Parts: sequence; structure tokens; C-alpha cells
Amino acid sequence: MTSPTTAAQPLGFGRIFTDHMVVAEYTAKGGWGPHRVAKRADFQLDPAASVLHYGQALFDGAKAFLGHDGKLRVFRLDAHLARMQRGAQRLCMPPVDAEALRKSILQLLDTDRAHAPTGEGQSVYIRPILFGTEGFLGVRPSESYTLFVILSPVGNYYEAGTKPLRLWVEREDVRAAPGGLGEAKTGANYLASLAAAQKAKARGYDQVLWLDAITRNKLEEVGTMNLFVQIGDTVITPPLDGTILPGITRASSLALLRSWGVNAEERAITFDEVRGAVKAGTLRGIFGTGTAAVVAPVGELGTAEETLTIPTGQDVSPRLLDAITRLQRGLSDDPNGWMTTV
Ligand code: COI
Repeated sequence: MTSPTTAAQPLGFGRIFTDHMVVAEYTAKGGWGPHRVAKRADFQLDPAASVLHYGQALFDGAKAFLGHDGKLRVFRLDAHLARMQRGAQRLCMPPVDAEALRKSILQLLDTDRAHAPTGEGQSVYIRPILFGTEGFLGVRPSESYTLFVILSPVGNYYEAGTKPLRLWVEREDVRAAPGGLGEAKTGANYLASLAAAQKAKARGYDQVLWLDAITRNKLEEVGTMNLFVQIGDTVITPPLDGTILPGITRASSLALLRSWGVNAEERAITFDEVRGAVKAGTLRGIFGTGTAAVVAPVGELGTAEETLTIPTGQDVSPRLLDAITRLQRGLSDDPNGWMTTV
């Protein structure tokens, strides 16, 4: 591993890495070369590479879990690869060779299997990244690309662990606008979030609640997660309209809720509606979903004018977290075929 850890030390998120990585290269003339599992190492890049100047880069994040039965299983690998394929198209990149990538990710996990952590809430985070390498300063898609996959043994994404998050409702900065890149997993969206996240932290909040770019009233995302609101028995999540990341945990949560007979709606929901539900006592909870954070409850929303206390433990989020983590650990049936055993 690239940094030492001990059983007594929490893993945190993305601080340590395993020994190997997948590498593949693409050229416009030759197409994709082979996907190789190699020693994790630094690499050379032309100083004019398009990724450095115009940010042509796409990543994804999946997770593998070591079960009590000793099997290592990946959650929804095919859905992650399909999302990468759509993102590559949006960023004018060549389609990834999904079958070669799927095989090489499983080979990499097998190679570094000994680094899979066993603790509660721990997993192997799988981070593929595809980026333009051509040394050329004109503004157009790169004609050459590199694809890496690295692995990071991880624990809780949030330092506060599973404590309900306190969110700053961001009214100035926007994460994404209609017609932009919001639905692609590209670094630019995360870069756009940094200043607001810093301001939220300075005010004592954990994360940002993102509003839409036009009305600044519709809820969009929570930090790096998709957002769910439960009012009465109905669970609501904003629709995928191009500005929101199509989260795999979001889709899985919707599928599970609907399989349980819960009314789960994909529709716009405003901050005014949430405030009204808090005042009326009908708000049962707000939570975020994401690969890194899984299912994270929200305990407070703050603006310059008001603080809304959000109830916790009264909504579907504890049941969702339990169902998803049990499935990921191989402790429950997998009727949808979401788990791939390495
Ligand atoms: C994820 O949940 O997988 C993310 O990508 C969030 C963040 C680590 C970028």
C-alpha cells in the first residue's frame, strides 16, 4: 500500500491506495490498446496535454465489499460502466471498451484482494479515470486518451461518521446549469462545488445543499450525493434533468423503495415546500445517497435567515442503508443481480 495504516486507525476516504492499477491507452488511429494490470506508478504527461488545459477528464466510483464468507463482491459494476459510457459521449471522448474494462477491474481487484478491509462500513473504492493526453493547445477533443483504474481501501466518507449532516443552503454559487455538464462525472462539477463547500465549512456546516441555477429554490443535490426528502409516506427525489448526477445508489434506492411498495416520486421539490413541511410537521426526513457515502441522514438546513431542524430516524433511510449494506456484504438475496463476485 502507498501509505501505512493500522487496525486502530480509521481508513478515512481515499487516503491510501493498493499496489496495482489498470492502464489502457487510446489513439484515434489505433483505437483502444489492451487493458493491463500493472504496478501502481507515476506517469508521464505532455505539458500541453488537453486534460491539463481544458479539463477533458471523466471518472467514476464503484465499490467492492469483502463478505463474511470471504467473497469479494462489486456493487452494480455494469451500471457504473454504462454511466461512464454516457459521460464519455457527453465529454467528446471515445467510448470505453466496457467489456475489457469490466474484466480488468475484476482482475485488479483479484490482484489486490489482500488489501480489502474487513471492518464495518469499509470497502474497496474503485476509481476509473479517463482523460485526454494529446499535446495540442487548440480547443477540440483530444485525439489520444489514457484510462487508469486505481483502488483505495476506504471507510466512512464523512469524518463525522454517520452523524446527521448539517447543510448550508447555497443561494449564490451553483453546481450545474441546464445544458451544462452536471450529469457527467467530470472533475469540473466537483471543482465548481469547492468554494461553496469551503464557505459552508467556515460557517460550521458539513456540506452544501445545492439549488437549481434558475429559480434558486428547487433542490438538486447534497454535497457529493443525490438528495431524497420524505414528506408523510412519500419519498421524493429531484428528476434527472441534465443538471443532476445519475447516481447508482439513487437508482438502487428508488428500485428498493418501489419494491417495498413505498410511493417514491421523481419530481421537482423546492426549499419552500420543505420549509412548509417542516412547519406543518409532515417532514419525516432528508437524506443523501452516493457510492462513497451510501445513505447519509440530514439533521439541519441553514440559510442566512433561518435554521430548519430536520427529524432523523423517522424516515426510510435507516431501512435503505441496512438493505443496501446487507446486500453489499452478501448477507441478503440479490434478486436483481446487482453484485458481481470477483
Ligand atoms: C462517489 O460517491 O462515488 C463520489 O464520486 C463522491 C466523491 C468521492 C467524488
